[in-house]
Amino acid sequence: MIFYFTGTGNSRFVARRIAEATGQPFADITTYTKTMEKPGFTEPGVYVFVCPSYMSAPARAMTDFIEWAEFPSGIKAYFIVTCAASMGITPRVASELCGRKGFEFMGAAQIEMPQNYIALFTTKEVEENIDILEKAEIEIERLSGLINKGEKLECKKIGPVEYSFTKWVRDVYYKNFMKTTKFRATDKCISCRKCVEVCPLSNISMKDGKPSWGNKCTHCMACINRCPKDAIEYGKGSAGKPRYKGPEANLGK
Ligand SMILES: Cc1cc2nc3c(=O)[nH]c(=O)nc-3n(C[C@H](O)[C@H](O)[C@H](O)COP(=O)(O)O)c2cc1C
Ligand code: SF4
Ligand code: SF4
Repeated sequence: MIFYFTGTGNSRFVARRIAEATGQPFADITTYTKTMEKPGFTEPGVYVFVCPSYMSAPARAMTDFIEWAEFPSGIKAYFIVTCAASMGITPRVASELCGRKGFEFMGAAQIEMPQNYIALFTTKEVEENIDILEKAEIEIERLSGLINKGEKLECKKIGPVEYSFTKWVRDVYYKNFMKTTKFRATDKCISCRKCVEVCPLSNISMKDGKPSWGNKCTHCMACINRCPKDAIEYGKGSAGKPRYKGPEANLGK
């Protein structure tokens, strides 16, 4: 079984490709988290968790889901993290999580994908993103082959200093910067509600024909990137920047 969390589609793309290559079903974790219907999975075997790297470790939406849901003890768990550059301390975070849940940790791997964090950075031009996606397909195939053979993924050891420091930075960032106060809709908004629909945390509602942001945001960047009119801005950081429309759009699908 393959589970994914995504903001802008990169992790869904990777999850779908791994599902095709391994013959496993795949599912969006927000199917469960949006309804708060706690899943209790009973199938033993291989589970693959796919999500973006947020501040050098798997998105908390995914790790919180794994902590919350019930799984059979002893399942074999792989972690595949999509990132613009590095999965950071993912191997240690994932292996400790597996220890708490009684899973067998089968390793963690990163797949480099286009940057989507346009509140802070800039996504690349479409041609460069296509190049990244083509390289990603090769890595997905390699990892799927290892998963099919039941092999563990090799990952680097994360030392105590790197681990503690990164965890501290992450905590500070999640607490103080993953806020919605800087989001606003401009006059280009046509009240289509797409931002409401794509928010994985159901954090956006419409007020007087314009989106209004609540306070559960995880900065996934779905709303700002996927608005069909590019009508959402984030402070001064996003003005004039291209929006990242996801892998399918970059591949012309
Ligand atoms: C809040 C946030 C934090 C991010 N942190 C990192 C990071 O620490 N390292 C990195 O390489 N990429 C980082 N990125 C980039 C994403 O991990 C990358 O674009 C990912 O593939 C997006 O996946 P998605 O389309 O499934 O949401 C970050 C993106 C966001 C929105
Ligand atoms: S997706 Fe864009 S155009 Fe549609 S309601 Fe949201 S801000 Fe307005
Ligand atoms: S409100 Fe936050 S969590 Fe929801 S789509 Fe926008 S950035 Fe993502």
